[in-house]
Amino acid sequence: MLTVSAASCRFDVSAPALTRLLSREPRRILRAVDEVSFTVKRGTTFSIVGESGCGKSTLARMVVGLQKPTEGALRFLDIRRADGTVGPPRVQMIFQDPYASLNPRWRVGDIIAEPIRELKLCPDAASTQARVGDLLEIVGLSRSDAQRYPHAFSGGQRQRISIARALATEADFLVCDEPTSALDVSVQAQVLNLMVRLQKELGLTYLFISHNLSVVRHMSDHLAIMYLGRFVETGAAEEVFGRARHPYTRLLLDTIPDVEKPNRSRQPMSGEVPSPIAPPPGCSFHPRCPIAIERCRVEPPVLRPIEGEFVSCHLA
Ligand SMILES: Nc1ncnc2c1ncn2[C@@H]1O[C@H](COP(=O)(O)OP(=O)(O)O)[C@@H](O)[C@H]1O
Ligand SMILES: [Mg+2]
Repeated sequence: MLTVSAASCRFDVSAPALTRLLSREPRRILRAVDEVSFTVKRGTTFSIVGESGCGKSTLARMVVGLQKPTEGALRFLDIRRADGTVGPPRVQMIFQDPYASLNPRWRVGDIIAEPIRELKLCPDAASTQARVGDLLEIVGLSRSDAQRYPHAFSGGQRQRISIARALATEADFLVCDEPTSALDVSVQAQVLNLMVRLQKELGLTYLFISHNLSVVRHMSDHLAIMYLGRFVETGAAEEVFGRARHPYTRLLLDTIPDVEKPNRSRQPMSGEVPSPIAPPPGCSFHPRCPIAIERCRVEPPVLRPIEGEFVSCHLA
């Protein structure tokens, strides 16, 4: 459904021209996303995991068209829908913060009805209202919730409202940027279960973004591990979880608590993510890598195929 080819996004974060001229500072370019390539198949979930600041949201914004890639390309293939129409998929985004993404002055019914009215998806007011009620039930809320305002709902319920609003557009492809990161763990699981059920029932395609590997564990078909704007390991989710060939993936896996082995020795994730304005030379992960050798400090690794996966590590 989606092909991303060597897409990059660079931001010019230089000081104003005059300041730069007076202080003889060079231009400063921040590489938020650096030559990322992947494809997403219809009806599957492609997950992207990495620490804060590695470029996940910038990539999500490029996919939904809120940010233009500075190099490379993103292309959606036309799809045939259940009603026989053929065209590009409808893409919607679900944001992390369900408190900020819903207009507090509107009733929930109007929030969900807005895209239906805007896109003229229902012929009249009565059918719009009926559709809003159906959508509320699909996401596990009740029809009468349409009359209430967002402040009357909990974080998890608000995220359900955000999902209903995305579905109101008859979306085919949902870009979910940390949709459960602001929620309690128990509520997180409920929202994730809802998303898995909706995917099965409606044939949705997800690009799912998280900083937490355990969140995506049970819902991903494909997984990409991102570090400083680049994919460092990508492949089928069970492969990446099972083999974890990149040291960064192994460190991320190590931070997940294991109920069966609570006393296993865990390697703490050390150090901070370096600045994407001046990434370290060689492999950008080498300053934090427990197994780095001299070659890693000078030669940048490329993403290369290893048994069906792609890994960018000299030692994999
Ligand atoms: N509009 C922008 N201008 C300049 N820098 C930006 C902009 N948006 C994001 N960045 C920078 O790009 C990097 C990646 O950010 P982001 O995509 O939000 O990462 P993540 O979602 O993984 O936390 C960060 O260093 C961030 O400061
Ligand atoms: Mg983000």
